[in-house]
Amino acid sequence: MIISKISLTNFRNQSSYELDCKKDTTLILGPNGYGKTSVLEAIYILTRGKSFRASDPDIKNRTSEFYRIELTTDSGEKRIATFDGSTKTFIISDKKSRRLPKAEKYPVILFLPSDLNLIGGSPSRHRDYFDRFFSQISEEYNTSLSKYEKALKQRNEILKNENLSPASLFSWNILLAKYGTIIHRIREELVNRINQELSDVYYSIADKKDDILLSYKSDVKNNSENQYLNTLEVNLNKDIILGHTSFGVHRDDFDFIFNDKIADGSASRGEGRTVILALKFIEANMITNLLNEKPIILLDDVFSELDETRRRFLVKNFKDNQIILTSVENIKLDY
Ligand SMILES: Nc1ncnc2c1ncn2[C@@H]1O[C@H](COP(=O)(O)OP(=O)(O)OP(=O)(O)O)[C@@H](O)[C@H]1O
Ligand SMILES: [Mg+2]
Repeated sequence: MIISKISLTNFRNQSSYELDCKKDTTLILGPNGYGKTSVLEAIYILTRGKSFRASDPDIKNRTSEFYRIELTTDSGEKRIATFDGSTKTFIISDKKSRRLPKAEKYPVILFLPSDLNLIGGSPSRHRDYFDRFFSQISEEYNTSLSKYEKALKQRNEILKNENLSPASLFSWNILLAKYGTIIHRIREELVNRINQELSDVYYSIADKKDDILLSYKSDVKNNSENQYLNTLEVNLNKDIILGHTSFGVHRDDFDFIFNDKIADGSASRGEGRTVILALKFIEANMITNLLNEKPIILLDDVFSELDETRRRFLVKNFKDNQIILTSVENIKLDY
């Protein structure tokens, strides 16, 4: 899919906005608060189904009754999303639905300035990042994660209840063990796959030989559903005292290892950024190979954070993808 046009109505600060997109690189230029990230947000909603930063009531212009966003592709396909204050509707090829249908999701590589600080981030930021990444690559991961999160929420609600009967937790334990095991297995597989390429891609950007490893940390041992279930049951009394579920993949973390040391604190800021760039590139490669579709690259204000070599790498390596990027100042793109 190549986006040829995007239109926003009452979306954030934009009452009416249109952007024609080029096949290769489109620059959205504007001062702080202009609405640049909002344009990427609209594209993200129309390709992935929901925003990367907020929910619809926050996105709809505060003084308007509704928002409407529309995307046209170079083959003439139109996709529309509307939100009337309570209900969101997608319209694709005249078919209406409340959610973006799976078959209509289109891969996107989103690059936010905050991603560049991922190495030093918290476990929950690391999980969010890799969850988004892995959900695009594996539908099994995507559905298991949402089922796991629902079950976890329910179990935690029950744990907070004063008159709790342990039997009422059993059905949720079963679901957590089932989906937790799947999530754990796919995280292991994809981290291994990333590691096969990470040092090499890093080298191609930095021109410096460093050993980079993504390490997956989990209390879940081996991929056995029974063992997972068992551990949930062993931890039951502790969970009742804590009022939440203390064991499971929702506690996992991902660490970057830089020349055998934890990268946070040992790699320089620039080296850290290069690792993230390498990761984005691997992500795009995996999507292209596995889904046989070229992801759209959305770069939100990241150029200002990168040096000339890394800017060039970004533009050159994504030369076969459509890139839409934002910036507060004009930037050179003809590498
Ligand atoms: N629901 C809303 N209704 C009206 N205005 C909003 C709403 N939500 C956000 N805004 C405003 O919309 C503007 C655009 O936000 P956006 O994040 O897209 O700007 P930006 O151009 O990316 O800015 P920056 O360069 O600072 O990143 C901001 O001024 C923001 O305060
Ligand atoms: Mg912005």
